[in-house]
Amino acid sequence: MIDKYNSRPDIAPFTGSTPATDFILTATDITKSFGGVHALRGASMTMRRGEITALIGDNGAGKSTMVRCLSGIHRPDSGEIVLDGEVVHFESPNAARQQGIETVHQNLALVEDLAVWQNFFLGREKTHGLGPFRTLDRKLMRKTAEEMLQGLAVNVPPVTSKVRRLSGGQRQAVAIARAAGWGSKIVIMDEPTAALGVQETARVENVITTLRDAGVAVLLISHNFDQVMRLSDHVWVMRAGLAVAERRTEETDGDELVALITGAKAA
Ligand SMILES: Nc1ncnc2c1ncn2[C@@H]1O[C@H](COP(=O)(O)OP(=O)(O)O)[C@@H](O)[C@H]1O
Ligand SMILES: [Mg+2]
Repeated sequence: MIDKYNSRPDIAPFTGSTPATDFILTATDITKSFGGVHALRGASMTMRRGEITALIGDNGAGKSTMVRCLSGIHRPDSGEIVLDGEVVHFESPNAARQQGIETVHQNLALVEDLAVWQNFFLGREKTHGLGPFRTLDRKLMRKTAEEMLQGLAVNVPPVTSKVRRLSGGQRQAVAIARAAGWGSKIVIMDEPTAALGVQETARVENVITTLRDAGVAVLLISHNFDQVMRLSDHVWVMRAGLAVAERRTEETDGDELVALITGAKAA
């Protein structure tokens, strides 16, 4: 690989060794610069079907930029994203969503004054009738939202409650259920429990593993090593715009991950 941005030749990109068919996603040699800032310098990473993949790294390593490239917010300057065997170019977050990548952003993007079921259907309201007589099918939307939440087996509020009445954990559950409920292949979660208490964190972690057990590949960005060790199957470590190491979770530990993040240990 020719990396014109690689001002740090001590950090070599690392590409995995799994058969290509096992991957639901491969991102190869992704670069993204903002003016003179090379946020991604040829980063490559993979996600496997039915697994929770953790993405970790110090502040500024490029995690969020990678997530934004995968979710259609940024367009990479160069590099290739292959989703389920197809090369994809996302023009927008909606395009990524339509092709099966849902992202739960840190701010959740729920509307406080709308009911849970309305938040589920923001931007994809179901209608019945024809032409000018088309009306919103509220009953169908409520029922569908209920099913989507129940499918995640969490202690959830009635779908008619306003989001502003929900606890942090319930909001997170609604945001995740909304993301998971659209037949997604991949759900990306950026620090999903950073702002939550112990009990709510446990609940959201339950939702994450339920998703995985339902066959959805989850990309989990987390600063919590315990959480990464408990939940993930696989870990990618980013440093200075590159994915520098990958580990099976069962073959590593918190100490090694810290060393990989800081560069104290080579990949
Ligand atoms: N929109 C942007 N404009 C300018 N610089 C950015 C932008 N987004 C990210 N960066 C820079 O790119 C680098 C990687 O940032 P980011 O992807 O947010 O890292 P992380 O999420 O790992 O903390 C940082 O130096 C950051 O300041
Ligand atoms: Mg970030």
